[in-house]
Amino acid sequence: MRDKISVLYSEERIAQRVAELGEEITKAFAGREICVLGLMKGSLVFMADLIRKIPLDLTVHLVRVTSHREQARGSVQTEIVYSTAVPLEGRDVLLVDDIVDTGITLSYLLAHIHEHGPKSLRVCSLVDKPEARKIDVHPDWTAFPVHEPLADQFMVGYGLDWMERFRGLPYIGTIPRPARSGPPQE
Ligand code: IMP
Ligand code: MG
Repeated sequence: MRDKISVLYSEERIAQRVAELGEEITKAFAGREICVLGLMKGSLVFMADLIRKIPLDLTVHLVRVTSHREQARGSVQTEIVYSTAVPLEGRDVLLVDDIVDTGITLSYLLAHIHEHGPKSLRVCSLVDKPEARKIDVHPDWTAFPVHEPLADQFMVGYGLDWMERFRGLPYIGTIPRPARSGPPQE
């Protein structure tokens, strides 16, 4: 499978975008302390690079969410399965996401965080696929917005996985995807 990966965003391109986002986020939060909340596991690499481009006081936390599609009702069940202790109340929260696709995961998480009464809540996503959206939700910052037909490709690397693999690739690549419902079989 590894030899079927084509490079979409190089290491250099990613570094450049991360630096630009870091600068924008630093300006937006100037003089405040940020609570950075990374969505595991896909955003780990992105978050690690991004926080080093934000020269503000910040704390780092992690949250993990799973989604199960219920075949019978066609609904998607989302739940938080792991979270580091996060004192969100009254904090300026920056949620770092990997890919916003249907928006189901992100909208669920945003609702959950809002319940904890943050002072502000912003979202920075590595990739945004706006045409795939089922719930109207938009990141405040996106490193790479991708559109059809590219959005139909399955992306791996720089934290993004295909069946838990390829997260360690320093670039973002694509692998062929036969059906939108799931990743390709080898
Ligand atoms: P959604 O927005 O709730 O549909 O889910 C977004 C999640 O689906 C992301 O956090 C990724 O884990 C996963 N995902 C969607 N598209 C891709 C892709 O192209 N490559 C890897 N993971 C993807
Ligand atoms: Mg994933």
